[in-house]
Amino acid sequence: MKNSAISERKNQSISRGVGMTTQIYADRAENSEIWDVEGRRYIDFSSGIAVVNTGHRHPKVIEAVKAQLDRFTHTCHQVVPYESYVRLAERLNGMLPGKFEKKTIFVTTGAEAVENAVKIARNATGRPAVIAFAGGFHGRTFMGMALTGKVVPYKVGFGAMPADVFHAPFPVALHGISVADSLAALDRLFKADVDPARVAAIIVEPVQGEGGFYEAPREFMTALRKICDQHGMLLIADEVQTGFARTGKMFAMDHHEVAPDITTMAKSLAGGFPLSAVTGRAEIMDAPNPGGLGGTYGGSPIGVAAAHAVLDVIEEENLCDRANTLGNRLKQRLQSIRDDTPEIVDIRGPGFMNAVEFNEVKKGLPSAEIANAVRLKALDKGLILLTCGVYGNVIRFLAPITIQDGVMNEALDILESSIREVWAA
Ligand SMILES: Cc1ncc(COP(=O)(O)O)c(C=O)c1O
Repeated sequence: MKNSAISERKNQSISRGVGMTTQIYADRAENSEIWDVEGRRYIDFSSGIAVVNTGHRHPKVIEAVKAQLDRFTHTCHQVVPYESYVRLAERLNGMLPGKFEKKTIFVTTGAEAVENAVKIARNATGRPAVIAFAGGFHGRTFMGMALTGKVVPYKVGFGAMPADVFHAPFPVALHGISVADSLAALDRLFKADVDPARVAAIIVEPVQGEGGFYEAPREFMTALRKICDQHGMLLIADEVQTGFARTGKMFAMDHHEVAPDITTMAKSLAGGFPLSAVTGRAEIMDAPNPGGLGGTYGGSPIGVAAAHAVLDVIEEENLCDRANTLGNRLKQRLQSIRDDTPEIVDIRGPGFMNAVEFNEVKKGLPSAEIANAVRLKALDKGLILLTCGVYGNVIRFLAPITIQDGVMNEALDILESSIREVWAA
């Protein structure tokens, strides 16, 4: 089979609305490597967009899923429940930041977790409005899309957004927005657009993902917590991309001094199987009536079994420490390239949630062209990279945290030569 032949069939059969960054069709994958249908090997620095932090087909995850397949695959937890769901909720309740009683629900995708977090926050507070941040990404459902702070491609042409969603600027010093600027804008929002007494929640990614891998400064998160407490709003941390050891701690909010009231999780929770979760203060999570939350596939026994194995692997293999080690190696290598590459304007990111940002030097403007050229050059050499950022000028690195040292070295060499060759061209 040829990638090009499948690609032609894809053009005839799949909506172009499903964007694809590569046209290499997967045949098999193992830890940090993917082989395509033509037998070519790639090093995967995308992890299916932050989904396989524990690597493709981690033996423990596969073993847990196989064992579950042999017992039952679906009963619908709302009809015939299972203990593994309860146990996973107990584990997450005990793991998430905040010294208070917590409860959890399981659904299927990140967007669905966000939808449910907003439903719960509205129900618990009796208030309708939600505040999100420019550059934030929260999914492609209607509420996810409304909360998302990036117009193209996520909102364009999709009609009226749900009402009562407001955006404030996210603090990114590199782009001239300080924490004080963001907080002043929030204050203006409360004066000009929405009565804070009508706001159910502020939703924030502790490190913006699609928006460019910008980490929320500590003082910003502390200030958001204070604003929420002052006005009776809830703080929702969207940890869909940041969760499960990626930032060098189990959750990105573990880097902060304050805890959110509600956390959304998905992606790496189940190491490649569709499962998402919402965990929050017990009394808030209990606000909706029975039947108000859930879904046919929510908390699939296969996903739940995989998630138990993922949590075990993160602990047994010390993946938080490993994320810090790998991230430091990556950032050091990028730093050494930066010395003679003025187009690199920033290298950043906690743990192994790292990014490099490019500007066109003469005009000093963000350059999506450079980021894309590096991505394509690396792909040509067998390394899968992803871009991100409101301006598309950021390359984000999301390799499995289980990547072997030899494969990591190989990937760093490809990255370095790709960046240098784009310059030489
Ligand atoms: C922070 C964040 N929230 C929500 C989502 C939506 O998740 P999903 O694509 O599983 O619906 C994503 C996906 O990238 C995300 O990064």
